[in-house]
Parts: sequence; structure tokens; C-alpha cells
Amino acid sequence: MSGAAQRRAYLQAMGIQAWVRRDGDSPLVAGEAKQDAAPPVAGGEVLEAGEAVVASIAKPQATASHETAAPEAHVDERPLPVEPSVPDVRSELPASPSEEMPVAPAAIPPGVDVNALGWDALQAVVARCTACDLHATRTQTVFGTGNRTADWMIVGEAPGADEDQQGEPFVGRAGQLLNNMLRAIGLQREQVYIANVIKCRPPNNRNPHVDEISQCLGYLQRQIALVKPRLILVVGRVAAHGLLKVDTPLGKLRGQVYRFCDTPVVVTYHPAYLLRTPRDKAKSWDDLRFAHRVAEGHDGEDGQA
Ligand code: URA
Repeated sequence: MSGAAQRRAYLQAMGIQAWVRRDGDSPLVAGEAKQDAAPPVAGGEVLEAGEAVVASIAKPQATASHETAAPEAHVDERPLPVEPSVPDVRSELPASPSEEMPVAPAAIPPGVDVNALGWDALQAVVARCTACDLHATRTQTVFGTGNRTADWMIVGEAPGADEDQQGEPFVGRAGQLLNNMLRAIGLQREQVYIANVIKCRPPNNRNPHVDEISQCLGYLQRQIALVKPRLILVVGRVAAHGLLKVDTPLGKLRGQVYRFCDTPVVVTYHPAYLLRTPRDKAKSWDDLRFAHRVAEGHDGEDGQA
């Protein structure tokens, strides 16, 4: 497959509409402006599971957009995060974000040293956790799933209704898109480890409170220590703010390498947000390629190659 065909395949796997230029140049993503582009014709190939090979990796482009998300008829997920993209103001960010990232405080049930626990004991402690009020309304805890020695760890926000019922993160519509996003960079869901900053569903799918995140973060911290991933991909503003202890808009967090407990962290949009705002899938694709570079050690701490 040619490079252009590969890119089309990846974009289709993410559900991004790709167009083929008549002059044979690389495909355009719907919404991408290119002034000298020939009129596009629809095209693209469907990516078969396992077929993906990572294409050339480019640094993400931060584009200015002040558009708001278009509502969708029904999204069976947590409330959709509001993640408006912002102009590229990366120069305002600290030169080395990793220096500013604090280690998560762990507020764990008394008498339990979470940092000494192995997988089974940790999962058992989480299942019994009553450290915050969310335990009263959950069906069950949603611990995490996937390869416990994965190179990539995906960190989301909190379980929604489907996850609360099934006990597994990202099993609803956002989960399907997450799976496609992973496939687009050549990863099967089973190859990565997926967890949330919060292990219990907040009632009525509200955003987790700061204190709930603080109570729960020690569990995620221990999961990260056990997995020892090469990269943590944080999806969504709430998860990013909870993990990194910043309140920077998501658009400004993109394209940077942060650190959590010595592990590189890259931030991108939440798949539920992308379901509502498909035009931002192209930016998410940029983020994924950037994350791949970081995981492969091709990008520096400041996001520069
Ligand atoms: N959204 C999340 O952030 N996590 C899930 O597990 C499901 C939806």
C-alpha cells in the first residue's frame, strides 16, 4: 500500500472522511484547508484489523478553531466533555512541562499501602473501596483492562453506564471509537492497558469531583507502576486535569510531552467528544502520531523531534 493509501486507511479506521486528490498528492482530511487542492473525490480503504502499519510520523499541527461541538442524537456515554480547540499558544507553556508535574497524592483507605500491592490485591482493594461517596451508587468498580505489560496505557475519565454495568472501561460507543483510534496506529485494544482516573461511575454521569479524583488517583498510580508503560495517552480534559494537576485547556495540552511518575504522557481528545465533534478527529490523528513518536523515543520532552 502506498503512503497515501495507508493514511486513508488509518483515517477511515478512525471514521475520518478522507478525500483523494486527482493530482495524486496525499489525501486530504475533510475540513483540512489546502488552497491549491484539486476538487476532491471520495475515496479510501477500510483498514482490516491488524493490518495497520504506522506511517510516517509528523508533529501535530495545532489549528485554530472556535467552533462548538454539534449535538448528536444519542450518545450512550458519559456527558460529553467540552473541549474546544484553541489557537496554538504553546510558547506560553513551560519549556519543559515534565518539570512541573507533581506526583499524585494517594488518599487510600487507612491501613492499606497500595504501593506494595500486586495486581490481584490491588484489584481486590479497589473492588472494596469506600474512600469516597461514589461507592454508594456504583454497580461495581471498573478497575482496568488489557495487557498488564503494555507499552501503551490509555487513561480515561470515569466509567459511564455501560462500563458500570460491565465492569470494563470504554465498552460503549466511545470505546468503539477508541478501539478504532488504536487500530489506526497499529494497536489492538488487547495490546494496551486501559484504565480511568476514577474507578466508580459518578451519578448521573456528572464530572468527577476533584476530591474524588484525589481519593482514587493512587490506584491509577499503582497500575502505572505495575504496567510500566512507555507512554500514557490521556484522553480528555477531565482525565488530563486530574492526572497532571493542571487546568490548562485541552487544546493547549496537545502536542506536549508531560510526565507522570516518570512516564511520558501525551494528551488528546476524549473519544466521546470526537463522536460529537468529528472534525477534530484529524487533530486527534495528529496527536496519535505524535504519541507514537514519543513511545518510540523519537520526540524530546518538549515535543520537538
Ligand atoms: N469514558 C471514559 O472516560 N471512560 C470510560 O471507561 C468510558 C467512557
